[in-house]
Amino acid sequence: MTHSRRDFLRTSTALAASVIAGSVATSFARTPRPPLDSSAHTSADFATLVPSDSSIKVEDLRKMAFELPALTYAYDALEPHIDVQTMHLHHDKHHQAYVDNANAAVEKTPELKGKSAEELLANLAAVPEAVRGAIRNNVGGHVNHSMFWAIMAPNAGGPPTGHIAEAITKTFGDFAQFQAKINDAGLKQFGSGWTWLALGSSGLQVLSTPNQDSPISQGLAPILGNDVWEHAYYLKYQNRRADYLKAWWNVVNWAEVNKRYEAALKK
Ligand SMILES: [Fe+2]
Repeated sequence: MTHSRRDFLRTSTALAASVIAGSVATSFARTPRPPLDSSAHTSADFATLVPSDSSIKVEDLRKMAFELPALTYAYDALEPHIDVQTMHLHHDKHHQAYVDNANAAVEKTPELKGKSAEELLANLAAVPEAVRGAIRNNVGGHVNHSMFWAIMAPNAGGPPTGHIAEAITKTFGDFAQFQAKINDAGLKQFGSGWTWLALGSSGLQVLSTPNQDSPISQGLAPILGNDVWEHAYYLKYQNRRADYLKAWWNVVNWAEVNKRYEAALKK
């Protein structure tokens, strides 16, 4: 199966599910922007996204904008590690604002319409200067947070599983050393930003980025990331970012992280 075909099947499945359920289970369903897909789209590509029995028209798909993905768990499901109020504000207000601002930036820049979020972030230099900052911050915010909700889950945490577990041990020595690197990068990130595990041509690496900058803009595939903006933790942890970083491991959804790793390896 080709790369494009695989991605479009995945998106098509997600789209069909969203039509049936009326809600979004995965990060980018209901948008014409397949996850982790930086390939150009043709009319034929878009046609493959439309279920044959759907009333959705290809033209409508193209016009569909970035949308806030619904959580796949309850707002209080990550308690006591992440509190319900933070989840409401973080998801419903902060992420929604990134989505709205990203759509506004694309709306006034016709040449950007139809491009995937990842395509935009992977080549920011190609984005007109007038909206480059808005795209970097808000499309970045949308992509980063969509991943963030997906890689967390209730009754999760513990040591990693699957291929990612082997890769972490091979790259960082053991899970504890890997956690320490992620936490350290998050703690040292001055101001707002993210701490990441990302896959590049030389393998896995830990890095931090400021603001909503995505590893995608550095040619890396984000595998796991923790949000160290104060909006992610201040209500519960106040100035104790280190406590938040430590607690966050209790909600990491390793099955999803492993899926992201395996998908990134195939690219
Ligand atoms: Fe955030």
